[in-house]
Amino acid sequence: MTESFPGLIEAAIAAMRNSHSPYSNFRVGAALLDCNGSVHTGCNVENASYGLTICAERTALLKAISMGRNSFRAIAVVCDQDTIPYPCGACGQVLSEFCDAEMPVHVASGKHPDRPERLLLRELLPKSFRLR
Ligand code: THU
Repeated sequence: MTESFPGLIEAAIAAMRNSHSPYSNFRVGAALLDCNGSVHTGCNVENASYGLTICAERTALLKAISMGRNSFRAIAVVCDQDTIPYPCGACGQVLSEFCDAEMPVHVASGKHPDRPERLLLRELLPKSFRLR
């Protein structure tokens, strides 16, 4: 049975409410649990120069890294639409720099937080880029 992480989806939903997404109207929130038990949250932050948009997962991860945390147990990702927000390849790659391939990735529609899908990072991005 896969482990559940109480409150992680709810933390992602709270972060999603801060999303700056006037261009896509697609709000995303992420919550990353570190190995000390702290939760680092993030939301997507869009820009009028669209390509500068930063995803919720990378916001959460970069906040954590810049706080000196670099070891993680799980991430939850939610959106405000009636769909499952699977993290994009860029986020999978950046997560794979710091997170174990076996790390749980819980994804849910914020409209159905009681129905999360549970994946592992390696299932999301089976072959991440490595220099060696
Ligand atoms: N987005 C994320 O926050 N995470 C992802 O993994 C994929 C997409 C955001 C970026 C953009 O603000 C909106 O979703 C629509 O693409």
